[in-house]
Amino acid sequence: MAHLFSPFTLRDVTFKNRIAVSPMSQYRAKHGHANNWHLVHLGRFAMGGAGLVYAEASAVEADGRRTHGDLGLWDDGHIDDLKPITGFLSQCGAVPGIQLGHAGRKASERRPWHGETPVDQDDVALREEAPWTAIAPSTIPYADGWPLPQEMSEGDIENVILSFGEAAKRAHTAGFKIIEVYAAHGFLVHQFLSPIANQRSDSWGGNRDNRNRLAVEVARSIRRNWPAAYPLAFRLSSTDWLEGGIEIEDTIETARALKAAGVDLIDCSSGGVGGKDRPRRMTIKQGFQAPFAADIRRNAGIATMAVGFLWDAKVCEQILADDQADMIALARELLDDPNWPLHAARRLDVADHRDLWPIEAGWWLSKRERLLTKLGLR
Ligand SMILES: Cc1cc2nc3c(=O)[nH]c(=O)nc-3n(C[C@H](O)[C@H](O)[C@H](O)COP(=O)(O)O)c2cc1C
Repeated sequence: MAHLFSPFTLRDVTFKNRIAVSPMSQYRAKHGHANNWHLVHLGRFAMGGAGLVYAEASAVEADGRRTHGDLGLWDDGHIDDLKPITGFLSQCGAVPGIQLGHAGRKASERRPWHGETPVDQDDVALREEAPWTAIAPSTIPYADGWPLPQEMSEGDIENVILSFGEAAKRAHTAGFKIIEVYAAHGFLVHQFLSPIANQRSDSWGGNRDNRNRLAVEVARSIRRNWPAAYPLAFRLSSTDWLEGGIEIEDTIETARALKAAGVDLIDCSSGGVGGKDRPRRMTIKQGFQAPFAADIRRNAGIATMAVGFLWDAKVCEQILADDQADMIALARELLDDPNWPLHAARRLDVADHRDLWPIEAGWWLSKRERLLTKLGLR
């Protein structure tokens, strides 16, 4: 039995295989509301056989959006738009998940194809999209040329913690079965974790425990509002790739603290905190972040997900076989081939791989296969 196609259980939720659709922002929402684009974007991955389908980074506060097109869960009015999506994903046998986030100093940014630069008055003229003031642990801009964020007061921090809990409650009502907190890639929770962005001198900054505090409090807040039967995951940047930033040893400690706060799975990414220095060169190769998943899994005793630059089913299979991770997440490869899980099953010689297809396609494909074989064409 291929590891990639063995079921995996966290709390009371079982994934039919180890393949997760990594969150992929579509920048297609209006005022945070999901629409048919999100249904089809996510639905095709569920039809393609993924065991876990994550909806993209969804803002827990309106000002926590990265762009005007981000999904949101800061209001009860967002819930009903998400229900058809969770319903369809579940109908296809995928576990519906959602990533909850707050952009912090990365808020008020243009969509990738509009430049990934701060929104300004040009956007008002072009798209009627106004800039807003971002909040952050410290008054340090994300990068040169970015506006100064406003340093968060104790009250702002408490509000964000509550907002994550409220959003979790809404995620439950909307039908999601797993939440992933976006604590990576320079988003707000990562900004608190990293000394690059967090230079506070109060109990939310300074030593590692203080910097971990927001992540831990967010986990606790979600756990208070999220069924004990459902798993909670965190996406962490395992390293900042910057001198003076987070190293893997720090992330192992964060993972331990999160586990104690009720977190079940760490999605192990890296980088993204920004700052004035250039990141150390990372050796980009297939599965280059999987060793982080292995380190965290081994040293923090928590389930992990490997992600980043993965496309070959045999490489993914080996990561699982080597106990480096419990799940594999893919993003761009799935954009290229939403049926990747079904094709991976064939590549790994899963015995009943044809039966994994939705019958509406699988019936025809099996029939064609028999004909092609009979005619000696395949
Ligand atoms: C279109 C697109 C949107 C993305 N949006 C998010 C996001 O909302 N949240 C997140 O954590 N990562 C996001 N990412 C990063 C992916 O989840 C993933 O970690 C990254 O692309 C590396 O995996 P890959 O090599 O399989 O693409 C996005 C990537 C892409 C391509």
